[in-house]
Amino acid sequence: MSAGPAHEPRSMTAAPSLRPNYPPGCQVLFTGAEIRAAVERLAREIKAVYGEQELTVVCVLHGGLIFAADLMRLLDMPVRLGVVLASSYRGTATAPGDLHVQIHPSLDLAGRHVLLLDDILDTGRTLTRLRDDLRALGPASVRLVTLVDKPSRRVVPLQADFCGFSIPDLFIVGYGLDWNERYRNLPDIVALPPGAGAGT
Ligand code: IMP
Ligand code: MG
Repeated sequence: MSAGPAHEPRSMTAAPSLRPNYPPGCQVLFTGAEIRAAVERLAREIKAVYGEQELTVVCVLHGGLIFAADLMRLLDMPVRLGVVLASSYRGTATAPGDLHVQIHPSLDLAGRHVLLLDDILDTGRTLTRLRDDLRALGPASVRLVTLVDKPSRRVVPLQADFCGFSIPDLFIVGYGLDWNERYRNLPDIVALPPGAGAGT
């Protein structure tokens, strides 16, 4: 049997950088290790509520993707996964635009315990709309989990059942959160400098 091509050591200077690009002037709010600790705490809180009951995590794409992947792997009850699409930020703007949601007709929630998961709760419009849309599919229960909450920005009264971090009115990126579809791949959550983004 062939051992395949020899694995040659490469010089460090030739190796590609493993450090993704951070936005200029940003400040780290939560490191990857701090996020990990928060996700572990959330998993324990969720376990305390659901026990061994089956759970259907419905991830709001795209921002909830990384959070969902990490959280699900810390849950030890039976877990199903569904996704919905939502977007409210347009291009380079850091203020919300029109809300667009897409729920695939195959999303089967009838009689199920649903945990609607998003990256961040800001004005509350997205999760209020999605929660109402999912309730129409006849689930046994719907609860909300968000990694980050910005309570000072709320225009629709809404509280998450499970929340990782509460922050002031900052625009943040990383760990799934984007600005203009960038920075979702950062392992940390960082704040853009005030006034950054819009129009640039
Ligand atoms: P809401 O409908 O205003 O609560 O907004 C929720 C959505 O807005 C989230 O799912 C995010 O996609 C986006 N969003 C709100 N604040 C931020 C932020 O600080 N950074 C990146 N996206 C954000
Ligand atoms: Mg989002």
